Amino acid sequence: MTGETKTVLVVFGTRPEAIKMAPLVLELRKHPEKFRTLVCVTGQHRSMLDQVLEVFGIVPDFDLDIMKQGQDLYDVTSRVLLGMRDVLDKVKPQCVVVHGDTTTSMAAALAAFYRQIPVAHVEAGLRTRDILSPWPEEMNRQITGRLARIHFAPTSTARLNLMAEGVDPSAIVVTGNTVIDALRIVVDKIAGDGALTARLDDHLRLEGYDPARVEAGRRMVLITGHRRENFGEGFLSICRAIARLAAMHPDVDFVYPMHLNPNVRRPIVEVFGAGDACGGNLFFIEPQEYLSFVRLMSVAHVVLTDSGGIQEEAPGLGKPVLVMRDTTERPEAVDAGTVKLVGTDECKIVEEVSRLLDNDSAHAAMANAVNPYGDGRACPRIIEGLYNYIR
Ligand code: UD1
Ligand code: UDP
Repeated sequence: MTGETKTVLVVFGTRPEAIKMAPLVLELRKHPEKFRTLVCVTGQHRSMLDQVLEVFGIVPDFDLDIMKQGQDLYDVTSRVLLGMRDVLDKVKPQCVVVHGDTTTSMAAALAAFYRQIPVAHVEAGLRTRDILSPWPEEMNRQITGRLARIHFAPTSTARLNLMAEGVDPSAIVVTGNTVIDALRIVVDKIAGDGALTARLDDHLRLEGYDPARVEAGRRMVLITGHRRENFGEGFLSICRAIARLAAMHPDVDFVYPMHLNPNVRRPIVEVFGAGDACGGNLFFIEPQEYLSFVRLMSVAHVVLTDSGGIQEEAPGLGKPVLVMRDTTERPEAVDAGTVKLVGTDECKIVEEVSRLLDNDSAHAAMANAVNPYGDGRACPRIIEGLYNYIR
């Protein structure tokens, strides 16, 4: 290690953070003369996190392994905070890098702050300004933003949000979103490799959905959901809408890789029953590792989701996205016309999905391959900004 080499501790814990931080870790490790890069996963997610680590070949240096079934926000916050104390004391990094708005990110940033270690925030500056939506993510990202010393904003809108809160513009770097870097890696991998596509399709077939159905002319609606503010009535309404849509459009498949959170799975069982839910044109499958999920997105006709990351990825693949939320911190794709907010009202979801299935021009108007979230080069920009900052 030279005098110039800085120790950077990258911390993440859930599936979306892992997808968005993986390309950054890989890029940081290309510069050992500048960075000693260590990775700490909190394990806020377990299998959904491990799926991503495996796809990108990342072996964490530290694993707090905090997940327990049915954990609440107090469990996650306290376990991350205490676990991070020990890791920070061992590593003594020059900088801690966290991502976005999860409780892992917020608690890891707080832990670094308590040791007076500078925090770098990736995907900084997203805001709805409604602290209850998304909950608790809006507050997580605001707190992390206050704790951070350097902010990597994915878009100029995010930069303006930070400046409106008094952040010094010289501490903000607009980089694009690293999810586009991750998506590019995976899309390139799949596109250039017919054997890999065949393996992914075999895997999906075993999981319960056969992508050959799309080649045979059937259209597919890809569905995901997990937001806490939709738990309970929101998810019941979403499930009832899916049941009605599947009955109204027997020529269309509905594929739902179910998040592992029990609050997401319970309403599915309530509405569709506990047995083998696959059959007909409805496919409830396990959460997919990233390559298979990207394959599913690429063959989907419409994406129906409450996910943050998918709102950023699907427009890049030219897929219309209907977002089952009332607010979004990602206005760029809404402005570009490829993302539309539909909330969780059963009738509204049925109406909006049906419109895209029945009306080709409505579908074509949304199916623009625009990418307001970056050019796939966010990671090199972050690394340059990070090095300049730490030096
Ligand atoms: C978390 C994040 C959310 C992010 C989402 C992405 C917080 C408060 N929430 O929500 O911001 O958008 O991840 O998916 O940080 N589970 C498993 N295995 C897994 C993952 C989850 O069994 O690999 C189950 C467990 O029962 C766990 C529960 O899901 O207790 C909830 O996980 P948790 O991370 O607390 O919340 P998410 O809803 O996943
Ligand atoms: N994703 C995945 N497998 C799945 C569902 C989603 O790999 O079965 C990916 C998706 O491509 C996106 C990320 O997970 O990059 C989004 O995660 P999630 O919706 O859980 O969280 P959010 O982005 O809302 O925080």
